[in-house]
Amino acid sequence: MSKPVTVRTFLNMKQAGQKIAMVTAYDYPTAKLLEESGVHALLVGDSLGMVVQGMHTTLPVTLEDILYHTSIVSRAVTRPLVVADMPFLTNQVSVEETLKNAGRLMSVGGAHAVKMEGGAEVAESVYRLVQAGIPVMAHVGLTPQSVHALGGFSVQGRKKPEVEKMLDDVTSLEQAGAFSVVLEMVPAEVAEAVTARLTIPTIGIGAGAGCDGQVLVFHDMMGFTSGYIPKHNKRYANLADTIVQAARSYVEEVQSGAFPGPDQTVYLKPDEHAELQPLLKGEPL
Ligand code: KIV
Repeated sequence: MSKPVTVRTFLNMKQAGQKIAMVTAYDYPTAKLLEESGVHALLVGDSLGMVVQGMHTTLPVTLEDILYHTSIVSRAVTRPLVVADMPFLTNQVSVEETLKNAGRLMSVGGAHAVKMEGGAEVAESVYRLVQAGIPVMAHVGLTPQSVHALGGFSVQGRKKPEVEKMLDDVTSLEQAGAFSVVLEMVPAEVAEAVTARLTIPTIGIGAGAGCDGQVLVFHDMMGFTSGYIPKHNKRYANLADTIVQAARSYVEEVQSGAFPGPDQTVYLKPDEHAELQPLLKGEPL
């Protein structure tokens, strides 16, 4: 088995020009299968709210939710880097609170790193976490926790002031000690310029092929959702159809009596049958 992926592996991969593949995971069996596939990192993302909990945004996701799912995912795997997302308002109130919340994701949840949305305004928190031994993955571009402030889930970085701010933000985050940065829904040319400027790897989602790695939301990439699918997603499977077909067959077989068949049924052994014969025939006790 190959060695566990660490934040150092991320940096080495960027230096060697090897691309990093990250996928979201929220549960034990999925995390195990993703580990088997060779992904480098698992993100327990607050996308949980939208793809698992049925919310319209990521805002209602709590620290307890991410803690619960991170502890499940981190129990399942030994090789990928497990990154826990910091939900809305768990890293915005104060540096002290951010440190406490991130610390719980590491010590109770078993995460290897945390991910934090925000630019230069969170650099101080990033610095304090890194000083405390908590690796931080930054997240700029479309930051879904700010969906209402941004006016929707739209591409970020089309205009000069936005791009200048993004370049300033990633520079501050790198200087604060972030080990990587997610670029979400950023034009490919801008993502490439950010990637060239940084020594830490960029992980893109809807940010083109020029990033040092990519991340996709498990339910979107596996076609395991009936909800909105972002344009940048690529479907690698169609689990929704597979599940509906399988469940339909089950319903049909239950109704026709084909399920359970002999292979799914427990029968009495001959001696048990002989002993129970009178009862089975309905004779009095
Ligand atoms: O919550 C999440 O899954 C994310 C990724 C889309 C980067 O933040």
